[in-house]
Amino acid sequence: MAITIEALRDWRFTLPRDLATTAHLCTLYPFTIQAGSGVTGVLLGADRLAGGGFFFDLHEAYAHGLIQGPNMLVTGAGAYGKSALTKALVYRSTVLAPTRFTAIIDPKGEWTALGAALGWAVLRLSPGGTVRVNPFDLGPARAGAAAEDLLAHRVGVATALLTLALGRADLSPGDRRILHECLRHLTAHSGIANPTLPDLQRMLADPPAVIADALDTTRADLAERRRPLLDAAAILVDDDLRGICDTTTSVDLDWAQTPGLVLDLSALLARRRTLRLVLTAAAGWLQGAMYGAVDRRKLVILDEAWIALEDLAITRFLQDQWRLGRQWGTANILITHALADLRSQVDDGAAAGKIAEGLLTTTSVRVFLHQNPEQIRTLLADLGLTGTEATLLRTLQPFQALWRVGNTSTLVDHLIAPWEWDLLDTDRAMSAT
Ligand SMILES: Nc1ncnc2c1ncn2[C@@H]1O[C@H](COP(=O)(O)OP(=O)(O)OP(=O)(O)O)[C@@H](O)[C@H]1O
Ligand SMILES: [Mg+2]
Repeated sequence: MAITIEALRDWRFTLPRDLATTAHLCTLYPFTIQAGSGVTGVLLGADRLAGGGFFFDLHEAYAHGLIQGPNMLVTGAGAYGKSALTKALVYRSTVLAPTRFTAIIDPKGEWTALGAALGWAVLRLSPGGTVRVNPFDLGPARAGAAAEDLLAHRVGVATALLTLALGRADLSPGDRRILHECLRHLTAHSGIANPTLPDLQRMLADPPAVIADALDTTRADLAERRRPLLDAAAILVDDDLRGICDTTTSVDLDWAQTPGLVLDLSALLARRRTLRLVLTAAAGWLQGAMYGAVDRRKLVILDEAWIALEDLAITRFLQDQWRLGRQWGTANILITHALADLRSQVDDGAAAGKIAEGLLTTTSVRVFLHQNPEQIRTLLADLGLTGTEATLLRTLQPFQALWRVGNTSTLVDHLIAPWEWDLLDTDRAMSAT
């Protein structure tokens, strides 16, 4: 059939008078399409709307004032490419930011191939394994950090671990004071540079009179009040963290030089409670070590972050860590499955949900891969997405994402080069012998 001009006219794509496509806008004024986010960094893919490449670096975005904090969230349905895009960011950054220290907390053991290829330390934490990590360890060099800050950090780690062990949402101010005094006494008076959980357990088992004095109470009252804390510490030392986080750290890393570290927690995947505790202990250990590496930019990535975000105590702990870490040049990336799944894990309307939302809201960079906006429209609005952007999430193909960097939105097709697949492909890394 011959195609006539009339027929073509009928096929023409038409819109109501008050609407236009982005192509139309370009013809009116070529710079109407956004000029990209303005962030420098590594090439991650193609910018769908503005054309050209999409470049990103979390530290650079923060340094240039484009975002409020160096924290990022990557969220989307399973197997849509969250881990792969973060791996691409890390891998390519090793060329552009070779002095940066990157640490991955890796619950599924998916980052070990990349870590090994980059010459990083790959530490596998498992009960009965060879690696031990002391959550109260502060690394070797602590110059520049005030003693009170370091103590506060240790108290924060102890609070998170004991809260989890007790299955509570939080510790009372009285409990915190006891922990604070015990840890202060351990380091200031007992001469232990890096106290361990068993040291804390011993101190709680038999707190000296000076601790009761410091707390303005009697030894008998203290003996009564410290009981739940002692039980929690004993559970951690004798059971949950035994053989993993119950002695001094067994690895000797050069924090000033080591390019990166993968903490492989996959041996604990089936033991959710232990996994949460070790994840918290590991995050505390890493944060402590960061104080020692003041001159380096640092990036901590938590994959499968929903494991942490479904728990109120860990979420609070992470929020505190982020606040403290910013002044030491630490950036953070959380990778978690679709937000609707996260919301269903926390009690609806309960504090846990609010904290998780708070944490998500404090992430200045949000990368949304495919998810169902109907289930989470309010949360998406809280996270700064317009109704149109939220609707778009449902239509996103695998490896496509909507990036919110500060106030800028960019639609990106993430690209992996053929020669990168061996390192970045989760499926291949998982099936490697
Ligand atoms: N940009 C891409 N181009 C082509 N294929 C990709 C891309 N990114 C990821 N893939 C493929 O999709 C698979 C799943 O990706 P990835 O592991 O990153 O998903 P995920 O969202 O992290 O999944 P999960 O929630 O299960 O952790 C990868 O192993 C790879 O085979
Ligand atoms: Mg993943």
